[in-house]
Amino acid sequence: MKFFIDTADLSEIREANDMGVLDGVTTNPSLMKVASERAGRPLDFHEHIFKICELVEGDVSAEVTAVEFEGIMTQARALAQIHARVVVKVPLILDGIKAINALRKEDIRVNCTLCFSPTQALVAAKAGAVYISPFLGRVDDISSDGMRLLEEVVSIYSNYSYPTEVLAASIRHPMHVVEAAIMGVHVATMPLSVIKKLLRHPLTDIGLEKFLGDWEAFQQGLAS
Ligand code: G3P
Repeated sequence: MKFFIDTADLSEIREANDMGVLDGVTTNPSLMKVASERAGRPLDFHEHIFKICELVEGDVSAEVTAVEFEGIMTQARALAQIHARVVVKVPLILDGIKAINALRKEDIRVNCTLCFSPTQALVAAKAGAVYISPFLGRVDDISSDGMRLLEEVVSIYSNYSYPTEVLAASIRHPMHVVEAAIMGVHVATMPLSVIKKLLRHPLTDIGLEKFLGDWEAFQQGLAS
């Protein structure tokens, strides 16, 4: 399973990268806004995406903000020029689907974002998206079942051997990651806080405290 970090914050990306678990980055306009606020200045979008690409060895999703075909194409081409690692994020709307099909012919890779239904995922795969991003947490937020959506997408793609990789997005907690991994999704993108939670276990902390206490007592025994 590939781990992507869902952030545009360079220090968070560095921290996850230092753990040696990072396979890529997903950004979106909201995450760019947060990164700008944290930096205390407006960030240049393209320059910032280039910096992220230079930090990680993996795909970096950068999102278009145009919603009609020509605008999406223009922005997507410009984003793809930034770095070979850029995957253009395109929303799952009619013009987005048309653009995915056209961009595939230009060898521009697309992560199709804002997916909330299995039919949307099916259409995105047929259009040629490299990644499909079902938003688990946001489905859960409206009292529906994000995991059920993920299961349906994985199953449909498997039935027809679509090459589109399933990228579980809007992950809010470790159980989202566990269940996605059991389903065999290709990628999970998550905030740094969730990546850190994946390795935590209270029995590890308790066990370590006991080992260190016993070691201290053992050392004191040797000294006396
Ligand atoms: O990158 C898209 C997705 O992961 C957003 O997550 O938490 O804003 O629903 P969230």
